[in-house]
Amino acid sequence: MTVTTTSGDAFVSPDSPPLLSLRKVNKSFGAVDVLKDVDLDVRLGRVTALVGDNGAGKSTLIKGIAGIYSFDSGEYFWEGQPVEVANPKDANAIGIEVVYQDLALCDNLDIVQNMFLGREETSAAVLDEITMEERAKSTLAGLSVRTVKSVRQKVASLSGGQRQTVAIARAVLWNSKLVILDEPTAALGVAQTEQVLRLVRRLADNGLAVILISHNMNDVLAVADDIAVLYLGRCTAHVQAKDVTHSQVVELITGGGLAPSSGDGIEVVPVELHIDAPTAEQGDES
Ligand SMILES: Nc1ncnc2c1ncn2[C@@H]1O[C@H](COP(=O)(O)OP(=O)(O)O)[C@@H](O)[C@H]1O
Ligand SMILES: [Mg+2]
Repeated sequence: MTVTTTSGDAFVSPDSPPLLSLRKVNKSFGAVDVLKDVDLDVRLGRVTALVGDNGAGKSTLIKGIAGIYSFDSGEYFWEGQPVEVANPKDANAIGIEVVYQDLALCDNLDIVQNMFLGREETSAAVLDEITMEERAKSTLAGLSVRTVKSVRQKVASLSGGQRQTVAIARAVLWNSKLVILDEPTAALGVAQTEQVLRLVRRLADNGLAVILISHNMNDVLAVADDIAVLYLGRCTAHVQAKDVTHSQVVELITGGGLAPSSGDGIEVVPVELHIDAPTAEQGDES
């Protein structure tokens, strides 16, 4: 696949102050320690890929960031300040939006209705259709989305890539600063994957911070600036995409670590191997 944007070329320096920083966050479900002392830094203008095998804790980590779960311990900093994100409203209020795998779009509604679902703009208690339509159009235009013919099309008539586009556009309507995407290309063919990856890159190029969860190393290396690796609930490596090869990322995901010749700027944290007992939810989603 050829995606014209290149990873590691972000305008924003890897040394800029993080938008989001997590320090030593932990989360257990009963006896299962799912996240263990996880550190993560996410920066505006950069795509941070969150990678790891099934069950590594990726979804749990983003649900903690998004306020769906609260972390049991650890620190959560936003723009350098400690914050409490106790529920999804708190996360939305500081500028976090998540695009979940199922997208949560309503097929029988059109694009505008979907983009404003649950948050319809009201003027004098009446839905202001004109404003909503204009904002939907300008948001799509701002993301250089040209594949959608009319914002009054029903979502049922859209392709997988277009649906993903609508879900992403909905996430950026709300003055968001951080957009989190859980496997946005998992169900897409080659051309649509490329279209969505361009959009992911554009979000960061427009100045947003993006967390991209993906199993696809080609996608990750095509658009990510930074890669955070989760392995059995620990964040075992933070690397810049430009410093690693495809097979090195796979090695990190599978817990092999990196050969010492891998180069500068690669921080690999050794992990203690221990296998949790399987639980009912194991491997049910990614
Ligand atoms: N609500 C829950 N209750 C109990 N265990 C859970 C729950 N959610 C996730 N887990 C467990 O936490 C681990 C990490 O899951 P998850 O965050 O979904 O991983 P990933 O998204 O990386 O595949 C798995 O072992 C999973 O079974
Ligand atoms: Mg998951």
